[in-house]
Amino acid sequence: MAQTVEGIVAPADGSLEESVLIGADSRTFHAYLHIPFCRVRCGYCDFNTYTASELTDVSQSTFAATIIKEIEFAARVIETRGLPKRQLATVFFGGGTPTQLPASDLVSILAALESAFGIAAGAEITTEANPDSVDASFLQELAAGGFTRVSFGMQSAVPHVLKVLDRTHNVENLPVVVAAAKAAGLATSVDLIYGAPTETLEDFRLSLAAAIALDPDHISAYSLIVEPGTKLARQIKVGKLPEPDEDEQADKYLMADSMLADAGFDWYEISNWAKSEAQRSKHNLAYWQSQDWWGFGPGAHSHIGGTRWWNVKHPSAYAGKLQANASPTQARELLDEKTQAVEKVLLEMRIGAGISIDRIKIASDQPERVAGVVADAIARDLIEAKAAIGGQLVLTLPGRLIADALLRELLG
Ligand SMILES: C[S@@+](CC[C@H](N)C(=O)[O-])C[C@H]1O[C@@H](n2cnc3c(N)ncnc32)[C@H](O)[C@@H]1O
Ligand code: SF4
Repeated sequence: MAQTVEGIVAPADGSLEESVLIGADSRTFHAYLHIPFCRVRCGYCDFNTYTASELTDVSQSTFAATIIKEIEFAARVIETRGLPKRQLATVFFGGGTPTQLPASDLVSILAALESAFGIAAGAEITTEANPDSVDASFLQELAAGGFTRVSFGMQSAVPHVLKVLDRTHNVENLPVVVAAAKAAGLATSVDLIYGAPTETLEDFRLSLAAAIALDPDHISAYSLIVEPGTKLARQIKVGKLPEPDEDEQADKYLMADSMLADAGFDWYEISNWAKSEAQRSKHNLAYWQSQDWWGFGPGAHSHIGGTRWWNVKHPSAYAGKLQANASPTQARELLDEKTQAVEKVLLEMRIGAGISIDRIKIASDQPERVAGVVADAIARDLIEAKAAIGGQLVLTLPGRLIADALLRELLG
């Protein structure tokens, strides 16, 4: 196979290497579905998503049929390779805005997954939703069709912050849709972003209080990333908006952790808090634990047993490939053992349960230095001493603030 800078070219029939079989019985199987449509693009977002006016040659109305073609294609690839039959342990519809599609489309896509792979009993089936794109009947239809969880993009409860972020929803809409989701029997999560230009500490406190008042099962709080090429990056570059301040971001994180802990939410990953273990996002945990997942849709990434691949980005190129009965893969990568070990550390170090120090040694370029860095991190209160004595690296609250720098020291 030809090696490209971007990865290796995947065969048109999508067939997978034999190496994906190794250990497959001990990994769980998950599906991610990328729905690449939004009503408007938020100025900070660089996700692979398009507004109606940006897509002249692809219709949202045929998207469900196209992604179902990929589901059928995947089932053939998996069967041909002889992978064990594994029912889906979780399904996650993300975007973009999955709820730009009618609920009936989302339910049909889920039904196609069920008939292709089966869905495990008690599986977590989530969709992301923008608060202004759903109502009670939409949520009831999702629940009746097998969805178990909805994750709302709340971002902030403060109108001037929502405006800077180009969010279109009304603050008053959140309690209405969260209550409707609960009434439909769905578990609920809300996403917050902190650090938008002009957002004060008090603004973020109000947003946290509003999120807590919704009494969801789960809350995510992400530090705003200024993505190159976005409208927000341009506004900051020309001095129209101030850049997020690192110290203020740290203060906001500390405030989030303390207010969420007081309200009964435990952190289980740097940006994620849940009311109990059962309410954690099992889908995200599967990513962090390097399980197997197939990512369906334009630009979606997949990972099965050390082979990683990603689909062509544009929805019309994606549809074109599937219409021609070809794999929509752009390229793939075979991860060697060392790369897999490094990735495991990068992901698992962010989890509340932490990662074994032996695994860090396997991934490190200088394993003989790891013990010294660990001892120094204990002295600086970045990791928990008791866990480290037991061989596990678990971040403390100050450690969570500088997790990336600590990782570089451990792996360097
Ligand atoms: C891609 S969105 C999809 C869900 C839905 N479209 C929405 O916006 O609510 C998923 C989450 O990613 C987060 N996100 C997107 N861009 C971000 C950025 N530049 N920095 C931090 N978080 C970001 C937001 O919190 C958002 O809720
Ligand atoms: S943040 Fe969500 S709604 Fe906004 S452009 Fe990105 S995917 Fe679309």
